[in-house]
Amino acid sequence: MHKLRNSSDAILVGVETVIADNPKLTVNPKYVKRTRHPLRIVLDSQGRTPKNALVLDGTSKTLIVTNEKCKKVFPNTATMRCGKKEVDLMKLMRILEKKGIGTLLVEGGSRVIWSFLQSRIADEVNIFVGSMVIGGDSSPTPAGGTGAETEKAIVALVLKRMKTVGNGVLLTYEVVK
Ligand SMILES: NC(=O)c1ccc[n+]([C@@H]2O[C@H](COP(=O)([O-])OP(=O)(O)OC[C@H]3O[C@@H](n4cnc5c(N)ncnc54)[C@H](OP(=O)(O)O)[C@@H]3O)[C@@H](O)[C@H]2O)c1
Repeated sequence: MHKLRNSSDAILVGVETVIADNPKLTVNPKYVKRTRHPLRIVLDSQGRTPKNALVLDGTSKTLIVTNEKCKKVFPNTATMRCGKKEVDLMKLMRILEKKGIGTLLVEGGSRVIWSFLQSRIADEVNIFVGSMVIGGDSSPTPAGGTGAETEKAIVALVLKRMKTVGNGVLLTYEVVK
């Protein structure tokens, strides 16, 4: 995960992930030799990121993306308004590309992952199968949101690589567009 983060220009999560897990979204130098400190991006239409969230700690750059109606500003961060209701991902991608963000790692959660797959913005899916079972009836699936409601909406993947990592397997897929 830290190597993947380090090879990306930016790491993106949804606001529910920030609220639930309070992730720092930085690269831990314990796992990576030369850390690059990717930009941290939060999709947060209504500006619900808590003031004490670790993504606002100033250790690396953060961009909070809200919708056009939201007036909130956050400390130690840049804020961008993009989209009328939820964040408009197509528009955001065009803006990020102009800012030199070529590789974006979408870390979650499941609603955001579905948005990137449904819109076919995602090029690649990396799935790590760890050798442990957590289980639970309420465990979320990797891709949430509405899910594919028709056969046509199913997101097809092509397996590109398989790699043993520790006691697990990393599967890399290409998204069929
Ligand atoms: N195991 C892992 O590695 C991992 C990684 C990440 C997250 N998680 C888990 O995932 C859970 C959170 O996932 P979640 O699915 O509930 O929420 P999420 O994907 O983290 O965030 C979804 C929220 O992002 C905002 N958003 C803004 N624009 C969006 C867009 N275009 N598409 C989708 N969302 C947009 C929406 O809130 P607004 O309408 O307020 O903007 C939406 O409700 C947590 O329990 C966390 O622990 C696990």
